[in-house]
Amino acid sequence: MAAKKYIVANWKMNPGRAKDAQSLFSVVKKRAGAKRGVQTVVCPPFVFLHLLAGKVSGHRCVVGAQDVFWESSGAYTGEISAAQVADADAKYVIVGHSERRAMGETNEEVSKKVKAASDEGLLAIVCVGESSRDDSGAYLSYVKKELEESLRGVARRSLKNIIIAYEPIWAIGEDAARSATPHEFEKMLLFIRKVLVDAFGKKPAFDVPILYGGSVDEENAAGFLAVPGSGGLLVGRASLSANAFGAIVDAAAEAS
Ligand code: PGA
Repeated sequence: MAAKKYIVANWKMNPGRAKDAQSLFSVVKKRAGAKRGVQTVVCPPFVFLHLLAGKVSGHRCVVGAQDVFWESSGAYTGEISAAQVADADAKYVIVGHSERRAMGETNEEVSKKVKAASDEGLLAIVCVGESSRDDSGAYLSYVKKELEESLRGVARRSLKNIIIAYEPIWAIGEDAARSATPHEFEKMLLFIRKVLVDAFGKKPAFDVPILYGGSVDEENAAGFLAVPGSGGLLVGRASLSANAFGAIVDAAAEAS
């Protein structure tokens, strides 16, 4: 039996109303809650976090935040601290998503967020990924640097609070020409594992789940889940459809 798979739903700035968030979550929870070997994490907008966390039953389908701020309190208009996220009963937080990086978030800021989340006992889902590929392999150095700088200051013993999501920017969203292929993910997964081993040592690095994200749907999910060492998937658009997302969770249960 393979290891547990993570299926993370990134709802982004959707849906528009609390009642729609609640009904989507209740359908997802029912299906995902019945699946062994899969940890489902639904990341809604902050304003729905507490509401949905209150509907969680059991551990198989829980909620997470889409971002967090590094300071613990103070005059930071619009920001949310890790303690506030934890107090809303969220267990996970996405950090360094490419859409936040595109708004100016730096690796240094990501590392401060990762540390704040980990200090609060949250599991940080740290996103990395190149915006384009080139024949000379410069994208590998880009991902290496992103990974090393985003995890700077993370102690070896805290690596257990880290999940990596490899999300090539060229494969994310409506405008993406295609998803990555399972083979591309496999090669990058090995590369990321090597960077983690070099930085933290073998044992802690081998325990870090490495997820794929970028145009995942019910058709291609099984291929990414079958990649040796695959930790699971980070799902954007398809997570807004209870049916599509449910099928992805089913595929993960089969792969686990
Ligand atoms: P997508 O988004 O599945 O809609 O491509 C993935 C993500 O941005 O996390």
